[in-house]
Amino acid sequence: MQHLLVTGGAGFIGSNFVRWMLAKYPDLHITVYDKLTYAGLLQNLQDVAENYADRYAFAQGDIADAARVSEVLAAHNIDTIVNFAAETHVDRSILDPDAFIQTDVYGTYVLLEAARQAGKLRYHQISTDEVYGHIEGGHRSKETDNLAPRSPYAASKAGGDHLVNSYFITYGLPITISRGANNIGPYQYPEKALPLFATNALNDQPLPIYGDGQQRRDYQFVLDHCQAVDLILRQGVIGDTYNVGTGTEMTNLQMVEILLDELGKPSSLIRHVEDRLGHDRRYCLDVQKLMALGWEPDYTHEEAIRATARWYMENPWWWEPIRNGEFKEYYQQVYGNRKVLERP
Ligand code: NAD
Ligand code: DAU
Repeated sequence: MQHLLVTGGAGFIGSNFVRWMLAKYPDLHITVYDKLTYAGLLQNLQDVAENYADRYAFAQGDIADAARVSEVLAAHNIDTIVNFAAETHVDRSILDPDAFIQTDVYGTYVLLEAARQAGKLRYHQISTDEVYGHIEGGHRSKETDNLAPRSPYAASKAGGDHLVNSYFITYGLPITISRGANNIGPYQYPEKALPLFATNALNDQPLPIYGDGQQRRDYQFVLDHCQAVDLILRQGVIGDTYNVGTGTEMTNLQMVEILLDELGKPSSLIRHVEDRLGHDRRYCLDVQKLMALGWEPDYTHEEAIRATARWYMENPWWWEPIRNGEFKEYYQQVYGNRKVLERP
């Protein structure tokens, strides 16, 4: 592993991963390949471009563009691909699934084929706990569980996972897959729950909680996810899949109470609104397999929520221009006419 191609590296988790890896490995080179959709922002990598100019490069492009992908692989002498590139927001997938199929399914195929043609490059796929669907009772999803995705986003990610596995079985491409829980931390686009709630609260605007707010999620700190991907790249068994999360869970309302406490804002900002279509009630991962590689999360849910809240408090330079751009139209579309629930 000497020269990584990090697709989707200008997004939330990808940019944290690039910063983390370049700081940790002084001989590593990274090229970020990113289409720069609404969620891909070069300012997420501004400090990286300044601090690691000799080991970092950026190439703009679509992962579904086979010619451009092959050109970039050859130009930068890439030996490993880590695919973070995706359409990632469930609510946008409900409004219009098209880009999700193009990028998360077809784009994944293009990358796999390019990796095969370039001489079986090492390939890691960033996937999600959402591919298991929502989990009833006390069960924790294991890597061997059947996939049962329920939103267009989750279904397109599951399609990607199946393709990755097929390239291992059929062609012997050296792949691994990680399935992460809900990440939170710096540089997360404010359409996602925690940064949306944090930035609304900082503006003294109501926080739109879908339904009763009793949905259960594993809110993990993004750097814990990045460390896990690094470990899997170095020590993961080729052909295997690894769940990545804290293995614990909390309700959305519990998350919001901690967030408001850290921001010093009142609970009266909470508004229960009409639920998301097909809203998954609970995700929870069994993370024993990753822990057997020697991994442990550094952050509890509460520490992750508080650290993230502080970052949004301290970095309005990053989120204020976003909220004043394309985001305004999106917000109006999703929340403008959303019914407020008196009794959730
Ligand atoms: P994000 O939306 O913040 O960033 C996605 C990045 O991909 C952006 O930079 C965007 O420009 C780029 N991109 C989108 N389509 C592209 C295309 N066709 N070609 C090239 N680049 C393209 O996403 P994120 O939250 O950082 O998620 C990164 C990955 O992690 C995704 O694969 C996602 O499914 C997965 N994941 C996310 C979470 C989470 O909680 N955010 C949890 C588990 C897994
Ligand atoms: O679980 C991993 C997944 O986590 C990733 O694969 C996705 O890319 C990422 O977007 C995230 O998906 P979720 O749908 O779980 O996250 P989101 O931040 O959109 O919502 C978290 C929870 O908060 C979920 O139960 C829905 C709820 N929610 C969300 C928004 C945006 C609200 O109650 N109100 C909101 O306005």
